[in-house]
Amino acid sequence: MLMNRLVLLLLALIGLVCGQEHSYTQADIAAGGQFYRTNCVGCHGGDGATVSGIDLGRGKFKISKNDEDLVRIIINGLPGTGMPSTNTSSARATMIVAYLRTMHEVKGRKSIAAARGNAERGQLLFEGKGECAGCHRIFGKGGRSGPDLSDTGHLLRPIDIETAILDADEQYPLGTRPVRVVRKSGATLSGLLVNQDTYSLQLVDQEGSLLSINRNDVKEEGPTRSWMPAYRGKFDAQELADLIAYLAKQKGVQ
Ligand code: HEC
Ligand code: HEC
Repeated sequence: MLMNRLVLLLLALIGLVCGQEHSYTQADIAAGGQFYRTNCVGCHGGDGATVSGIDLGRGKFKISKNDEDLVRIIINGLPGTGMPSTNTSSARATMIVAYLRTMHEVKGRKSIAAARGNAERGQLLFEGKGECAGCHRIFGKGGRSGPDLSDTGHLLRPIDIETAILDADEQYPLGTRPVRVVRKSGATLSGLLVNQDTYSLQLVDQEGSLLSINRNDVKEEGPTRSWMPAYRGKFDAQELADLIAYLAKQKGVQ
């Protein structure tokens, strides 16, 4: 008992002395991800590896040695290079670093997306075994009941694509999420929420038709389960990496 406490105390002290390995909260990481998508994606890309020689998510830097260096560089930029100062607070910069440190992890495990996939094999899976093309279009080819995925490689990190496939209910990074709406008349409808404003909700139904619903007619609105089939266990790790590689390559109209 005492021994255990001593060990814990020792570990805590080592943590304090080394001080390099920070522990960040999930909220820090999530907020950092938002800042990253707004302020950094344009140059560094969704996967953090667009600037040559630098891979933010894998800790490949030219100058930074630790998290403190990163925070300083995010705030001040690197004068004389393409890295601008961002005028952000150190709290915010710290959240971005928290996000960078987990960029290639899903809930503490290493991402499959980090493995090397083969995009050609991925395309075969997308159109064949996965039946993804039944619902998703890529450059005009495919179904209409899911979002168009022609620009996924720009908009999503490989890890978001991985989560989208394995845990479709967890997040909707493309912004289209399935909702259920009950009208005042009692009629219920469900669709993908593609847009909303103060006065109305715009949904796309399973057939792909756009519906606009006046908010005055809405009694209740809430999330429903993803329309995506459950894919966990359907693909092995290599197949998943292949699918992710294929989608990560889709970068809009050339
Ligand atoms: C206008 C484009 C641009 C924007 C916006 C930008 N960066 Fe950079 N960043 C660069 C370039 C270019 C470099 C490489 C500089 C060099 O040549 O060393 C770089 C370098 C870095 C480095 C590497 C530092 C090192 O130690 O080598 C980090 C970390 C970094 N950026 C983080 C960020 C973060 C986080 C954001 C968003 C808050 C951001 N950058 C926004 C262009 C940009
Ligand atoms: C039955 C139709 C259907 C099938 C089959 C399907 N999807 Fe989806 N997918 C959707 C819909 C609808 C959404 C939008 C939100 C939701 O309902 O999850 C979506 C969302 C996505 C997203 C975006 C993430 C987001 O929600 O913002 C990706 C990436 C994706 N699907 C990839 C795939 C891949 C890869 C496959 C095949 C392995 C696949 N989908 C199969 C309907 C489908």
